[in-house]
Parts: sequence; C-alpha cells; structure tokens
Amino acid sequence: MLEARTLSKRYASVPAVSNVNFSIQPAHVLGYLGPNGSGKSTTVKMLAGLLEPSEGCVLFQGQDIRNDLAGYKRRLGYVPEEANLYPYLSGREYLELVGGLRGLETSWLQKRIDEFLRLFSLYPSRHVAIATYSKGMRQRILITAALLHNPDVLIFDEPLSGLDVTSALIFRHLVQELKQAGKAIFYCSHVLEVVEKVCSHVLVLRKGAVIAYGSLQDVAGMQSMQTLEQTFSRLVEENDAEDVARKLAELTLTQ
Ligand SMILES: Nc1ncnc2c1ncn2[C@@H]1O[C@H](COP(=O)(O)OP(=O)(O)OP(=O)(O)O)[C@@H](O)[C@H]1O
Ligand SMILES: [Mg+2]
Repeated sequence: MLEARTLSKRYASVPAVSNVNFSIQPAHVLGYLGPNGSGKSTTVKMLAGLLEPSEGCVLFQGQDIRNDLAGYKRRLGYVPEEANLYPYLSGREYLELVGGLRGLETSWLQKRIDEFLRLFSLYPSRHVAIATYSKGMRQRILITAALLHNPDVLIFDEPLSGLDVTSALIFRHLVQELKQAGKAIFYCSHVLEVVEKVCSHVLVLRKGAVIAYGSLQDVAGMQSMQTLEQTFSRLVEENDAEDVARKLAELTLTQ
C-alpha cells in the first residue's frame, strides 16, 4: 500500500536519509526506530509529501505520490513530531477547520468531532483556546485531526509524546484496532515496549541508513537477544548508558 523506494535526503550536502527501502501492507504496522538524529522525522516528512526526496520516491498503491499529491493526502492521516496548532482557536474550532479543509460534511463532522472529544476526555475543554491546553491535550487534538477522515494510511511521529498513562494505553489499543481494520501504519517511536506490542514489522535506522528490517520477530530475535530493547541497543552501538550517566553525574557534582 505504501512503499519507500531508494529514498534519500540530503540537507545541503549532508546526508540525513540514505537509500531507505520498505513497504507497508494493509493491516501492517511498521515500527521505525533509530537514535536521535538518525533520520526518522526526515523520512516521515517525505512520506507525508511535505519534503522532496533528494533521490528515490514514495509510492502509494504503486503510484509515485507526486503524481497525485492531493489524492494521496485525502487517504493519509499524519501526526507530526511537533504540534503546529493555531493557539487562538479552541480545540473544537481547530478540528472543524481541519475537517472543513478535508471537505467533510458539516453536521456529520460536528457529531464526529464531539464523539472524538468525549472519548479523548477533551469535551469539557472544547471551547477553550488551544493556547491554554497542556502538552498531552494538544497531542490528543493532533491525533484526532489525523483520524477525522478515516484515512487508509497513518503516519505517526512520536505519537505518545506528552500523553499520560491512560491516554498512552488508549492510543496503543487504538493502533491495534486500526491495524486489525486494515490500515497501513507507519509508527515512529523511541518507546520500544509499545513498538513491541503494536508493530508487525520493524526497521532500525542508524545515521540515515537501514541496519535492520524485517518482521518484529526476526528483528527482535537478531543476535539471539531476548527483547527488542536489547537488540536495538546492540544494533545502534550506542554508548553504555550507565557509564555515560556516571560521568555526567561526576561532571555535575564537580565544583
Ligand atoms: N531542516 C533541516 N536542515 C538541515 N538539517 C536537518 C534538517 N532537519 C533535520 N536535519 C538533520 O538531519 C538529521 C536527521 O534528523 P531527523 O529530524 O530526521 O532525526 P530523527 O531521527 O527524527 O531524530 P529524533 O529522534 O531526535 O526526532 C539530523 O542530523 C538533523 O540535524
Ligand atoms: Mg524526529
């Protein structure tokens, strides 16, 4: 359904994403992992049609998304890494704006928005300016905005960011339900416990290049490791966390 083919991006001459290939079928969730700065959000922006690849392309149902970007965006729901909400609008006004731009019928849209707001515990704050919302409330608005038009492809960039325990649990189950309903889902996150629970496939990036890609079982089972977290740490060869933490504490405590 959604495919990245030799996808690459350079900022000036610095490579951020190099020759990335994957495909996501309906009812699949691809967990997209990698350390900070490894190129996840750069990939996300190319998948969402917001950033032109330096090389390669994104295919939706076999067609380059650039051939019909508007048609593709109608089928896409996208939760970006950073909230870009209009602070002076209320949550409800913002969702009405998004739904209106998507051409959704007004009375149907309003009922739908109210249901989403109730289920995400935002209904009491629906008429209050987004400027006063907490981080997690904004994130729930962003998630709602991505789901309003029942898209076939979902792209989530750190969707748990700022969510409290209950909201994160609701979101995790929601992803599982949407997967079962046949959506193709791209799920970018550092929260490996959740990735392990919701993803059917996993891709690990390091410095913009793919270092592991396959089914969750295949990637988690690499190097005879027990958990995805252990495999991930070994794959990305990050510094020993305890050692770095000890040195940071020493530095902090040095007069
Ligand atoms: N607009 C930009 N201009 C120049 N360099 C950029 C730009 N956006 C990202 N980069 C660089 O591209 C690389 C990948 O960044 P990206 O945001 O894709 O990483 P990420 O994997 O999403 O990281 P994080 O886990 O911190 O969200 C980084 O080295 C970053 O500095
Ligand atoms: Mg990012």
